[in-house]
Amino acid sequence: MWPDGSTQTVERFDDAGLARSVRLLRLFRSEQSDPDRYYTVVAADAVQQVAHHAKLAGRLVVDVGGGAGWFTAAFRARGARCLLLEPDPAELHDGPCKPAGAVIADGMRLPLRDAVADITFSSNVLEHVPDPLRLIAEMIRVTKPEGLIYLAFTNWYSPWGGHELSPWHYLGSGFAERKYARRYQRRPKHRVGETLFPVHIGSVLRAMRAREDIEIVDARPRYYPQWCRPIVLIPALREIATWNLMLVMRRRQ
Ligand SMILES: C[S@@+](CC[C@H](N)C(=O)[O-])C[C@H]1O[C@@H](n2cnc3c(N)ncnc32)[C@H](O)[C@@H]1O
Repeated sequence: MWPDGSTQTVERFDDAGLARSVRLLRLFRSEQSDPDRYYTVVAADAVQQVAHHAKLAGRLVVDVGGGAGWFTAAFRARGARCLLLEPDPAELHDGPCKPAGAVIADGMRLPLRDAVADITFSSNVLEHVPDPLRLIAEMIRVTKPEGLIYLAFTNWYSPWGGHELSPWHYLGSGFAERKYARRYQRRPKHRVGETLFPVHIGSVLRAMRAREDIEIVDARPRYYPQWCRPIVLIPALREIATWNLMLVMRRRQ
């Protein structure tokens, strides 16, 4: 049973081909009108991406910045033990999931000892913290040797990099915020430098390649078919065309 009480079978996107991307793209349009359906499917999709690299049943997964718990629910539905860590109680309670055992915690200072988790997972959190490399370092710290670190984020020069400020963020965050306020007569939910921070694919990849305690297992546009992976190898283009980077790493012994 899903957290909203439904027993619906969630489509499992086993393929990483074009059909999956088209289905996800169609789904994005329903984020506002049917968020439960949207998050159920997107969470199941991300969990399937993790399942390509690691067994889930019985494993301890730490969901960093897990929000309302959709991803935690999807991991639990696959038999994993999942701990949700989320700093904002409002985000945690913003949905039907109400995941049991959730802990209020900052991803940049995880309240966990070293090497406890089989899998650490973070979806669309990196761009919301002032020190993204510190959050990644914390995820690596709490992951067991041979354990998996899954990280996905929307980079700043993505067409969605400015979130609700998009596409005006391309003209600068100050301009984009003024434009938003004029148009909607309110401040945007995400404010650059407060709750939204520019993160770039190149700098994250360079920092991860420089680390000796992890190996990069996969790096590719999260929502695109697998064959779009080469985009991530091309500086400049990757910052605009990737949309959302999925980075899977394994902790070395
Ligand atoms: C866009 S939401 C993503 C929620 C969920 N992971 C998802 O993919 O739908 C960003 C989340 O990051 C959380 N967050 C912000 N700062 C954080 C921090 N320092 N540590 C952990 N999570 C943080 C927010 O509270 C929010 O729940």
